[in-house]
Amino acid sequence: MSCSINLKELAYKNTSKEVFNNLTLNVSHEEKVAIIGANGSGKSSLLKIIVGLIKPSSGSVFLFHDEMKSLKDFRKYRSDIGYLPQDVSDHFLCPTVIEDVMFALRAKGENKEEAYAKSCQILKDLGIFHLENRNIYDLSGGEQKIVALAGILITKPKILLLDEPTNALDESAEEKIIAILNSIKKSMIIVSHHKTFIEKLAPSVYKLNKDGLEKLS
Ligand SMILES: Nc1ncnc2c1ncn2[C@@H]1O[C@H](COP(=O)(O)OP(=O)(O)OP(=O)(O)O)[C@@H](O)[C@H]1O
Ligand SMILES: [Mg+2]
Repeated sequence: MSCSINLKELAYKNTSKEVFNNLTLNVSHEEKVAIIGANGSGKSSLLKIIVGLIKPSSGSVFLFHDEMKSLKDFRKYRSDIGYLPQDVSDHFLCPTVIEDVMFALRAKGENKEEAYAKSCQILKDLGIFHLENRNIYDLSGGEQKIVALAGILITKPKILLLDEPTNALDESAEEKIIAILNSIKKSMIIVSHHKTFIEKLAPSVYKLNKDGLEKLS
């Protein structure tokens, strides 16, 4: 099966310590992978490496079989990768929910009516249509997380990298996200501490530790 992401012998060292070593992972087309691990084990750093925000200290990252030799190489795949950061508080570009969710579609040249209709639909699918005209910075942390996810899903990227998508969410919001993610046939790496969320999504599960990824299921 063709692979969307290949990580070969990655090591990551930040200013204070060696975080992980010898990390190898292949994510196939439409495969869902969950990564668990202790606080500080490097899960968020790993997603930032895959999206080209930070550099590993050694090893290689391939996206769609294309080796990313420098951070510039990632630009070509920006619109193919939907990245939800762990902290979304500085992720937004527009003041209101609907404007922010529409933004990526408008930037791609979609007309206002179409972008609006699609944005309303994704807000309904995620159960947050009532927030349509709210100021993003007045929303709760959980509400902001779902708005950020809406802004990512609407662009239909080929790969989803989701850093703790359900932390701070209530059960009903979590159920809606599970249903949506289960209906999407894309390659995904999901970092999560939520056991039930992972079980319902049924991905391949890996645990991150100092010596790389250990396959759990
Ligand atoms: N910009 C930075 N400068 C220095 N150290 C950093 C930086 N960012 C992260 N770290 C450190 O790198 C290690 C890995 O951090 P990371 O955020 O990737 O962990 P994590 O597995 O996502 O943790 P959590 O479960 O708490 O989200 C931690 O020890 C953290 O303190
Ligand atoms: Mg993290």
